[in-house]
Amino acid sequence: MSRIVYVNGRYLPYAQAGVHVEDRGNQLADAVYEVCEIKGGRIVDERRHMARLERSLGEIQMRLPMTLAALGRVIRETIRRNRVRDGYFYLQISRGQARRDFVFPEPETEPSVICVVRHASPAKAEATAAKGIAVKTMPDERWRRVDIKTVMLLPSVLAREAAKREGAAEAWLVDGDGYVTEGATSNAWIVDDKGTLITRPADFGILRGVTRSVVIDLAAREGLTLVERGFSVAEAKAAREAFITSATGMVMPVVRIDQTTIGDGRPGRFTMMLRELFHSQAELAV
Ligand code: PDD
Repeated sequence: MSRIVYVNGRYLPYAQAGVHVEDRGNQLADAVYEVCEIKGGRIVDERRHMARLERSLGEIQMRLPMTLAALGRVIRETIRRNRVRDGYFYLQISRGQARRDFVFPEPETEPSVICVVRHASPAKAEATAAKGIAVKTMPDERWRRVDIKTVMLLPSVLAREAAKREGAAEAWLVDGDGYVTEGATSNAWIVDDKGTLITRPADFGILRGVTRSVVIDLAAREGLTLVERGFSVAEAKAAREAFITSATGMVMPVVRIDQTTIGDGRPGRFTMMLRELFHSQAELAV
């Protein structure tokens, strides 16, 4: 079955799907996006992802190019045409196609909307989680508005590549004071000796992850202690457990930070509990 991609009102075969060379997303990273999990044919936390998309658009002075209901139909139709039961969708909205210019194009310029759906193997993800991943720490060299989910991801690309070259699956970005901000494509968490969950507040310096928000709600539901505060690389290396959260990895245990083994080198108890319970807290929409 050939893959189908949604591009600006049309469902096209993967090989033929493209936007114009002068799309502002392409030339200027003038675009925002969302990545959302699909589980058992249902969309995970769509409402929160769409709320963040609307916020991201607002922060770059754009509006939704269609109603949320219409966007939901596009997403579902792309999922249906690709027959994906487990995987992700990628939705990108750019300021559209216009002659290259730093200032905004004419107000009537149509935004570009892309939706790509991808299958992912739940068995593979579980196998990865059973072992846990390594992360590599690196200076956070991104711009300051990382609260907006834009496609301006070059620093994250370079960080992830550097991590991969050292056998790590994620980069943990570190601010000038030695505190972990977040992962290149995930939020960062540790668990201390007492079983307290610790993650950086989302007011500044990180993206407010939807998975992070769901884990916060889940922790409250389960009566776990949670503190939103920054933590240093040294504190993380001495932590009892560490993990990352994202729509693509859900709750993923971290068992090594740089050369330091975390805990006994196996995924932690709290981490695995949150991973197991995650979808009971998440919203699943048909
Ligand atoms: N990334 N922080 C950053 C910088 C991210 O790019 C992401 C998600 C997250 C986690 O957010 P959420 O839980 O809403 O997925 C945190 C997606 C998965 C990506 O870019 O592919």
